[in-house]
Amino acid sequence: MKAETRSDYQFINVTPYAAMVGAEVTDIDLSRPISGEVREELLRAHGEFGVLFFHDQTLSPDQHIDFAEAIGHINVNRFFKAVDTHPRIAEVRKDPDQKTNIGSRWHTDHSYDQEPALGSILYAHEVPQQGGDTLFASMYAAHDALSDGMKKMLGSMRAVHTSRRNFGKQAYGNIKDATDVGSRLGNVDAATQDSVHPVLITHPVTGRKALYVNDTFTVKFEGWTEEESKPLLDYLYAHAVQPEFTCRFKWRKGSIAFWDNRCTWHKALNDYDGQMRLMHRITLEGTALS
Ligand code: SIN
Repeated sequence: MKAETRSDYQFINVTPYAAMVGAEVTDIDLSRPISGEVREELLRAHGEFGVLFFHDQTLSPDQHIDFAEAIGHINVNRFFKAVDTHPRIAEVRKDPDQKTNIGSRWHTDHSYDQEPALGSILYAHEVPQQGGDTLFASMYAAHDALSDGMKKMLGSMRAVHTSRRNFGKQAYGNIKDATDVGSRLGNVDAATQDSVHPVLITHPVTGRKALYVNDTFTVKFEGWTEEESKPLLDYLYAHAVQPEFTCRFKWRKGSIAFWDNRCTWHKALNDYDGQMRLMHRITLEGTALS
């Protein structure tokens, strides 16, 4: 049975995509200006569902920027290659001869920043015939399924996040074939961000609690060593990606995913060697988390 369109959204059509995360928004043309009511409902749905999917959109890079600016303020990623003509848009690209892709480990964008990104808007320019789907996981669901004892303990803890490990010099030592990364990632000297955030945050729009550590950027719990932190972090990473908490988005050319970095993780599948995948990503500024 098809999920029902939600009746509590008046200005946009929102249909849940999976039980715990994601919704599809239909009958909207994002190349055109959006009204204040539509913006407000998009942001409400974004916080509620964690990721919004749109299909069959035709956006020039300027229109992609216009949509992003209608929603919030653009935060330029320091490490991804930018689109040549549009420095505020990051290119997420894998050529047919490349083996590695960008974003293949579960993560949430920019958690190494003091004020982590609110969300990202990824637009599909070219997609493989098969493969290249993106997985999303609900960190509300991950939080809610923890025991009361674990919630109590984590509720008083904070965790350290860094850009150094993933984007600094050491990252390239860890990649088997650093030349395969080519010019897609760079600016290693700018990988100096460290931040500390609560392990459980309260989402600023929904007021719901979400788990806020991730396998890519979180290093340890504040006041703990990395060795002490690892077993509990590994437990949380496995807990958070139970299939029930996830959805899998199949892209078409012209699809958009607009995800909320505060209550979801995502992971780009790398199962399309020999084919091209080209996406444009704009990330939006967020606020400090508490
Ligand atoms: C990303 O992590 O921003 C990329 C996600 C994707 O390519 O599906």
